[in-house]
Amino acid sequence: MSIFLGVNIDHIATLRQARGTKYPSLIDAALICENSGADSITLHLREDRRHIQDNDVIELKSRLTTKMNLEMAATDEMLKIASNVLPEDCCLVPEKRQELTTEGGLDVASQIVRMKEVCTQLSSNNIKTSLFIDADKRQIDAAAECGVPIIEIHTGHYADAASKAESELELKRISDACEYAVSLGIQVNAGHGLTLLNTTAVAKIESIVELNIGHSIISRALFVGLANATSEMKALLLESRAI
Ligand code: PXP
Repeated sequence: MSIFLGVNIDHIATLRQARGTKYPSLIDAALICENSGADSITLHLREDRRHIQDNDVIELKSRLTTKMNLEMAATDEMLKIASNVLPEDCCLVPEKRQELTTEGGLDVASQIVRMKEVCTQLSSNNIKTSLFIDADKRQIDAAAECGVPIIEIHTGHYADAASKAESELELKRISDACEYAVSLGIQVNAGHGLTLLNTTAVAKIESIVELNIGHSIISRALFVGLANATSEMKALLLESRAI
């Protein structure tokens, strides 16, 4: 089965916001990623607007040639924006103001009623919705109850593993979760903390359809350029599947 790469461009906006300049252009960056193998462009409109701004979402939507995957918290404000912009995909994530990045998966199980309501509203706008959750059977069951077609498994614990044994354990958790979700008819995407060094093992999990990768690609772009950083990662995904 093929595997798709979603490139998260949040940190192009981080660089721009650091100086309040008009550059670097998110549109140029997204188009370079798309021309270099990205199958979709992911962006997270955070409540504190620390990187992506409302206008970025609107402008990108009219310029992307692949798909927009809008990451957002399950708030009324974000729901309103999504229903105006109509991204092809929407990934619901947990959000805490002080965190450096998304720290863990959504606790869907403890808020099924609300999550179901949000997912239903998004899908009524033809937006393919995914829930970003940990590799946890309880959360997968809750996602199934919400009726979402897709989950995105949080790979951050795998990426942060302090030892080989821990990394293997986390990888097994991810692959068991993928198997379980697929048995329920749910598509599995994954992402967070993935780099050129740790992605192969995840990409080898046949049931994963899409990997969303941001920080490592944008960082690598400083040395090799954004086109090369994107195409290198895409090649790695495809090679992982070919093995
Ligand atoms: N997937 C989700 C749901 C995320 O929140 C993020 C980070 O914004 C990513 C993937 C990409 O993570 P990273 O930037 O560590 O590659």
